[in-house]
Order: sequence, then structure tokens, then C-alpha cells
Amino acid sequence: MDQRKAPLYEGLINHLRKNPISFHVPGHKYGTVFPEIAQSQYNDILKLDVTELNGLDDLHSPHSIIMDAQNLTADLYKVMKSYFLVGGSTAGNLAMILSVCQTGDTVLVQRNCHKSIIHGLQLAGATPVFLAPVLEKTGFLPIGPSLDNIRNEIGKHQKVTAIILTYPNYYGMASRELGEIIDFCHEKKIPVLIDEAHGAHFCKYGSESLPQSSLRYGADVVVHSAHKTLPAMTMGSYLHFNSQLVDRSKVEFYLQALQTSSPSYPILASLDLARYYLASIADIDVKEIIAASTRFRDQLHSIPQIQVVPQVSTHYLSDPLKVTVQTRCSLSGYELQLIFDECGVFTELADPFHVLFVLPFGAFNEAEETLSRIKAKLKDFKIVSNGAVNTLSFDDSNNSTLALAYKDVTTYKTEEIDINASVGRISAMNVVAYPPGIPIILTGERITAERMRTVVNLKRKGARFQGEETIWDKGIEVFIETAKNM
Ligand SMILES: Cc1ncc(COP(=O)(O)O)c(C=O)c1O
Repeated sequence: MDQRKAPLYEGLINHLRKNPISFHVPGHKYGTVFPEIAQSQYNDILKLDVTELNGLDDLHSPHSIIMDAQNLTADLYKVMKSYFLVGGSTAGNLAMILSVCQTGDTVLVQRNCHKSIIHGLQLAGATPVFLAPVLEKTGFLPIGPSLDNIRNEIGKHQKVTAIILTYPNYYGMASRELGEIIDFCHEKKIPVLIDEAHGAHFCKYGSESLPQSSLRYGADVVVHSAHKTLPAMTMGSYLHFNSQLVDRSKVEFYLQALQTSSPSYPILASLDLARYYLASIADIDVKEIIAASTRFRDQLHSIPQIQVVPQVSTHYLSDPLKVTVQTRCSLSGYELQLIFDECGVFTELADPFHVLFVLPFGAFNEAEETLSRIKAKLKDFKIVSNGAVNTLSFDDSNNSTLALAYKDVTTYKTEEIDINASVGRISAMNVVAYPPGIPIILTGERITAERMRTVVNLKRKGARFQGEETIWDKGIEVFIETAKNM
């Protein structure tokens, strides 16, 4: 197929050439009815913000430009079918899970996953077994579950309906065992569903020392946040289907059920253009991207107050676009991020010890400027260690299950209690530090002392939590195990 075409974007431009007069939604009428204060900023983009007019296709029943754009995407990623998503990977993860998992199904799921995975399982009423991730060498960053762990866990169950993995993790670490894990699961006829939100560009990494897409290893359904590492607009994502084990019509049903019937054409067109851009990247460009990342890492590492988390390990391969720095001075990761903000360097996320930089999958011209700003800001901070010590213990070393099944959570009454008094109770809410959006305590999970302490310590260190008002002002919501709803 001709990857130099962008049929969806070109279709929109052809429509604009007709000098259209709008008697249709949206109400801004190609930007002519719009608050004047913002008109100049929005002008060009609103011209592309149309609706399902003749010739512009329909996301829920594609037959022309959207179909062509999706087919080109499937061709590039070498899959049976690709779908454009306007609700982010969140929509894709929900559709992927709901199309495979039903009430009571045993599903193996990596514990350090995005909340959309948890919500999918909750909506499906599935019975999750949470797989403990391997920790990278310094013991801070959870990667993915090991092959041995998965093999043992599958052996314990009569039937496992699916396995859901996050690959790579938020810090760009991709388990080296993924290929073997997928082969093993497929031998057992278990579909492998992958949240590859951070790996939409992996298909361009040819070398074995770099992460490869899970699609290459035969994953059944894979979700990509094209807006994270490709130049798609925020909310633009792909779902790729490549399976003999999953029913494609169910995936399509849930995509329709979960996504708007009025998708944003600027986002859809940007997905077409992101694929076009990705296809245009040559091996030589990839080499330059990697070289620029290596230079940036080395220069960052030479700043005494920080150190860069190692790129290689026996457990994982690293995405060169992700650069994680660890504090070596008195600043926590959150404080370090604020210092970076102050000098106009805005990073992806912070945790108690780290700050994560996401580099462009393209020209990177800001390295020198970034380094000089950071150096100037950090120079007066005293170095206190050769590396942070992890004082936040995640009890992630064992697999776990829920104390109260998702299908039963509406059965019990709840109450709010001080989080410090919550150990031993079953949580009625997901407690999610954001970013990165990984729940630390899950609905239906019995709260352990470690998890409670982790939440409290993270808060103390400066983490932000979703639903802060509830947790810190009113308390954490827990089930009253003796009181059922009528
Ligand atoms: C691993 C992972 N999966 C899924 C998501 C959700 O993606 P989106 O923002 O595209 O809905 C995120 C968002 O941060 C993520 O990090």
C-alpha cells in the first residue's frame, strides 16, 4: 500500500476546497461562530472540525476515507485490522477487555497497570489475578511479570480467559521475556491483550537491543496511545486486532458502544497523519533519534545532583525516548520536577525519586538549552547520596486477588474512614496517584499496611491523587462487610 498517502486528511482538505456553507453540526460553523478572544488560535483547526457529511465517512461504519486510513495503519503495523480511537487508549483498553472477559472469568493481569485496565475488569465483572511485576535492579521501578510467574499462575487455574499486560511500563522498560510469554499463552490458547500505550513507535526499532512491538511477537489485541509518542492529537489512539482467539465483532461492538457517535475529525485526521509520519521515518532517522537520546542521557548524567537510570538490564530493554533521572540531592522527584518547571522544562511525570523525560520521535533541538537551564538551577543543591534509597515499600512481590469480587461490590454498604485506620478493611475505591495513573489500592482489595503506608508516604512526598478531597478530607471509602444493601 502507498504509505505516502493520507486519505483521511486529504479528504478533509478536499472538503474545505468546496468553500462549504454549514447547515450542520458542530455549532461553531467552521469557526465562524466562536468567541472572538480565541478565534485566531482556533481558526485553522475548527475548519477541520466537521461531521459525518457525504464523502467524509463514519467511524462506526467506515467505508471510504476512514476505512482507507485504518487500512493503511493495519498495513504499516502488519495486523489484520486497525481501528482509530478518539477516546484515547482508555477507550481501547475498555473495549479490548470487555470483548474478551465476562463475569467471573479468571483473568491474569499485571498489577502495575493503568486504571483503565482495572475499570475494564470491573465493568466486565471478571475475576482478576494480579501478577507481581519484576522490579528493576535498583528496586524502584516495576517492569512486567516474569515468564516463570505466569507459567506457575496459569498452572493453578482450570481456565484462564485472558492475560493482560502493560508493555512497556511508564518508564519505557520493555520485558525481554514478552515473546516467550506470548508463545506460552498461545500454546494454552489464552489470548494476550497488551496495553502498549507507550510503544506506538516500536515498530520502527529494528535492532534486537531495542524494544520490539508486542505485535511482532503475536499479541492478539494491542492498544497504542498514538498521542503519546507519535504526533497525533491528544486522545488519538489505535487499537490493533491480530488474533485467531478473539472475536473481532465483539471488539467492534464495544468500540461503538464506548466511543462517541460524533468523533473529532481533527483527531481522526491526526491519527492518519501520525501513521503517515511514522511510515516516513527511515532507519537513518531512527539512528539519529537514538544517538540524540544517548547524548542527552550522558549530559544529564554528568550533572552531579542527578543520575540517569541505566538503559540496559537482564530483565528489560529500554525505549530511548524515555529518560528517567533519579535524584542524588535533597530534593524528592516531585521537588525536582517543580525545579524543572520553574526553569520552563516541563516533564512527563515525577515519582518520589524520579523525573521522567519523554523525548520526541523526531528532531530534538532543545537538548543544549534544557541542560543549561537545569544545570544552572541545580548547581547549589548539595549531593546527599550516590542514589536514592527506596523507603516506599510496595508489597508487589506476590500475586494477589481481590477480597471482594467485582460482581459483588454493589452488594455491600460503604463508609469513609481515616486512611491510617484502614488496614484490614476492603477498599471501595481505587486510590490512584496521577500521573502515572496506576492504582495503589484497588476496589475490592483488602488494604495491607504496606499499601496504606505507601499512599500516606506518597502524599507526604508530594504525589497528587485523583479524588484527593475524598481521601484526605473525608477518608478512604471501604466496604462494611457486615452490612448488605437491601
Ligand atoms: C500504560 C497506560 N495505559 C493507558 C493509558 C491511558 O491512555 P490514554 O490517555 O490514551 O487514554 C495511559 C495513560 O497515561 C497509560 O500510561
